[in-house]
Amino acid sequence: MEYNAKRRGFIKGAGTALGVAAAAGGVVALYGMKRTWDPLPSVAAAGITEIDVSVLKPGELMRSQFRGKPVYILKKSDEMQPNDARDVVIDNERYTVVIAICTHLGCIPAWNSSNLQFKCACHGGEFDPSGLHTFGPPPKPLVIPPFSVSGKKLVLGEEGEQYKKLAATA
Ligand code: FES
Repeated sequence: MEYNAKRRGFIKGAGTALGVAAAAGGVVALYGMKRTWDPLPSVAAAGITEIDVSVLKPGELMRSQFRGKPVYILKKSDEMQPNDARDVVIDNERYTVVIAICTHLGCIPAWNSSNLQFKCACHGGEFDPSGLHTFGPPPKPLVIPPFSVSGKKLVLGEEGEQYKKLAATA
């Protein structure tokens, strides 16, 4: 009888220790999994691009990138129609900010400053200076990437107030 009582005590103690060890192991495993899934700080930072657009002259185009995709930033000139549903306003100047990928089959349209349009060489699609599709097979306008405005800088990768308004009207 005495032997059995000691044995039960030993088994109970061992069971508790095993449970604690398993719980601790679970916490360590979850922490390891979280660290694996979280993007590295360098990768998270790479999703944000800050661009000083004040260097652009009216009618001038700047090329950038957002998460590996080409982006066009066009400072609108007086000869280009303002478009409140698509223009990004920074320091009282209007800009077109679009992902430079045709919404038809993904070619990169070229900016033609002489006739003020983005032209896709693949199937002849055309977009106006605001990125609206005006001719050919593209089914919709060029996409505006998430952005915010910080002073005279455009911050690609953040959803600021202007972006939310434009996205809501698109
Ligand atoms: S991919 Fe641009 S028109 Fe077809």
